[in-house]
Amino acid sequence: MSETLNVLVIGDIIGKAGRTALANHLPALIDRHQVDFTVANGENLAHGFGLTKKVADEMFKIGVDVLTNGNHCWDQREFMSFIDQDDRYVRPMNFTTYAPGRGWTIKQTASGHKIAVINLIGQVFMGPWDCPFAAADRALKEIPEDVAIVLVDMHAEATSEKMGMGWHLDGRASFVYGTHTHVPTCDETVHASGTAYQTDVGMTASYQSIIGMKVEGALYRMVQRLPQRFEAVEKGGSIFATLVSIDALSGKATSIERIHVPAS
Ligand SMILES: [Fe+2]
Ligand SMILES: [Fe+2]
Repeated sequence: MSETLNVLVIGDIIGKAGRTALANHLPALIDRHQVDFTVANGENLAHGFGLTKKVADEMFKIGVDVLTNGNHCWDQREFMSFIDQDDRYVRPMNFTTYAPGRGWTIKQTASGHKIAVINLIGQVFMGPWDCPFAAADRALKEIPEDVAIVLVDMHAEATSEKMGMGWHLDGRASFVYGTHTHVPTCDETVHASGTAYQTDVGMTASYQSIIGMKVEGALYRMVQRLPQRFEAVEKGGSIFATLVSIDALSGKATSIERIHVPAS
């Protein structure tokens, strides 16, 4: 009989509020849901902008296995100096060929099952990146066939482009999910093919904010249309994450469930 693996996916973690919420609750969540593997998006870990070794290590220490990334990948320039040294980091596969780091990685769970994580970035309302659909095909070609479980972080602005990726990888990935828009969507589903899909996992951050940033500054930019610094909210973080059960042998998802830990 095949085993079922439980994978916990966390979207963008924003600054101290997000990190603190996860530090307080992730170990218990892993325990309660018998989580075998945890992946999170790390592009906003350091004050909302990029990640440093210090904050990434905090996440690894509390149970995150792989950190994906996005358009804020290089906001902390030090990341360029250590991304190549650790295969727990992935950055979008369709960045330019000159970018350091890798677009996919394979890690092994404690039970010995291999899990591939692919990171992609969208083109719609985003930078002029290479085609994410072709990049996804390339990644799947490169990943050895004995790796049945494939998770795909599609870091993108447009809902349609994320849904497009869900269908492009239908039957070829275990879970295709969106990050970047920071607001969880309630469209989680498992396609008939066994590919789970959700347009955005949502941020782990303070929701008394504008997508994780202090309201005052963000609103000033919108209303006054004058320059103002974005500052991440530091307290009151809540967790949104998605739990997917996956058949270890076939890599097909069998269930999907949104998890919410409100701010305490
Ligand atoms: Fe983000
Ligand atoms: Fe982003």
